[in-house]
Amino acid sequence: MKRVREFRDKSIMGGGQEKIDAQRKKGKLWVRERLEKLLDPDSFTEFQWMVTHRSKYFGLDKTVFYNDGVITGFGKIDGRNVYVYAQDFTVLGGSIGEAHGLKIAKTIEQAIQNGFPVIGLYDSGGARIQEGVASLNGCGRIFYANVKASGVIPQIAVILGPCAGAASYSPALMDFVIMVKSSYMFITGPEVVKAATGVDVSFEELGGAEKHGSISGVAHFVASDEESAFMLVRKLLSFLPNNNSEDPPYIPSDDPVDRRNDELYEVVPTDPTKPFDVRDVIRTIVDDGDFLEVHELYAPSAVVGFARLGGYTIGIVANQPAVNAGVIDIDASNKIARFVRFCDSFNIPIITLVDTPGFMPGVDQEHGGIIRHGAKILHAYSEATVPKITLIMRKAYGGAYIAMGSQSLGSDVNIAWPTAEIAVMGPEGAVRILYRREIDSSANPQQVVEQKLKEYREVFANPYRAAELGYVDDIIDPADTRHVLYKYLQILKFKREEHAMYLPRKHSNIPL
Ligand code: HXC
Repeated sequence: MKRVREFRDKSIMGGGQEKIDAQRKKGKLWVRERLEKLLDPDSFTEFQWMVTHRSKYFGLDKTVFYNDGVITGFGKIDGRNVYVYAQDFTVLGGSIGEAHGLKIAKTIEQAIQNGFPVIGLYDSGGARIQEGVASLNGCGRIFYANVKASGVIPQIAVILGPCAGAASYSPALMDFVIMVKSSYMFITGPEVVKAATGVDVSFEELGGAEKHGSISGVAHFVASDEESAFMLVRKLLSFLPNNNSEDPPYIPSDDPVDRRNDELYEVVPTDPTKPFDVRDVIRTIVDDGDFLEVHELYAPSAVVGFARLGGYTIGIVANQPAVNAGVIDIDASNKIARFVRFCDSFNIPIITLVDTPGFMPGVDQEHGGIIRHGAKILHAYSEATVPKITLIMRKAYGGAYIAMGSQSLGSDVNIAWPTAEIAVMGPEGAVRILYRREIDSSANPQQVVEQKLKEYREVFANPYRAAELGYVDDIIDPADTRHVLYKYLQILKFKREEHAMYLPRKHSNIPL
């Protein structure tokens, strides 16, 4: 065992004390400290710690790093099993050599086989240049494993330093990406950007956490530091099942399921043109006001995230009237569709809160493909077989009414508040199209407009037509929202739905 201990000591020290000190000087934790902070005490079991590279080029023949720059194994988070891999920047900048890649791929495959979530801690300069094509193979094997795991086990990436080149595609294939503020991700770094395009850009400007959190949408969460990132992993996991054959954990609370929501009378203005923050509605409805928002900074005209109702995990999708009146643009379409598909993969019921004037008009949006991107929402809701409950709070117009979990797309229950307005379009636009000639030829056009608006509102600016036609199942008092949603959720727990298929298909073809 003495020999083994010597190997082990060498393996533990990664790139050596000097590199560990340099890592700390940059304000980053040493990889083993990260694992200690992420996992329950003494729960980590490491495997393949003696693996090293097999390359003999560019000086690698003179260096042996047991572990090859990534620590792999399994442990526990809040008593639940997880697989984990953590890149060690002190070894060749956490670069992905072939052995490094194969170790990560094995960890993910074990996680799939045993049905437990996998968490990857990233701190890497990308494909290991010295190993050439062998390193690219290592990267490819990680991607292949990530894709095999997709929809089977939850995959969470935490970015704690650079995540460059090939390293960045693995997180992109996972379910959630958490970036600490000081980290950055890019396919090609500032030097290549300068050489290829002439543009001078810093690491932060190019691929910093705030950019990926708000503009690209690559990051689902931005954490102020490493410890907060690990807390976020714990919190996120608390909502998720181990794998797609299990239900999410049931975590009861003292919050009564029949608690009235009288606050909603204050929160939501009855005037449909007045904004409100939909997160106030969500927090009022869910257990203990506890809502974990996903993609908080990205596409803010939509809000998605996890909460519980009567102890059961729910995924919430909502329009955000506080941002552009809750209009659905390209980014919001992607955000909503991806979240719906995640919930559907992992048996999480979806509650949709609607208040939107429609899809975003504009040349940029049309040329950017809002038809194609908006269609993702239609596809995602139609495909989802988990319980789907939709609450129309105020405006639900046109395509956005259909997209946001309408009955037509297979939602199980559609509820409305008395303030709901369901129509092909808003009153102002509709009246000008329907009565243009009458308005133009009138001696008092404003009077005609007012009169027609009144008529239109009486017919459509309410939930009654939709309820008469059976598209709305119930019109409820906002104060009863929590209780009503809970009751439907309880009965829909037993839902079993399989889509009728006339010919078997491999998978659907979502418009990407
Ligand atoms: C081998 C690498 C490496 C890599 C870093 N290192 N990246 N070794 N392959 N890809 C090594 C450095 O040589 C150095 O070794 C050590 O890691 C630490 O790197 P530093 O540069 O000293 O650290 P820092 O100043 O913090 O800068 C980190 C960094 C920078 C921003 C990540 O190293 C960098 O720009 N690396 C290249 C990033 C990149 O362009 N990757 C793409 C690779 S191609 P010593 O021995 O001096 O300590 C790729 C395929 C593309 O991934 C596929 C596209 C999808």
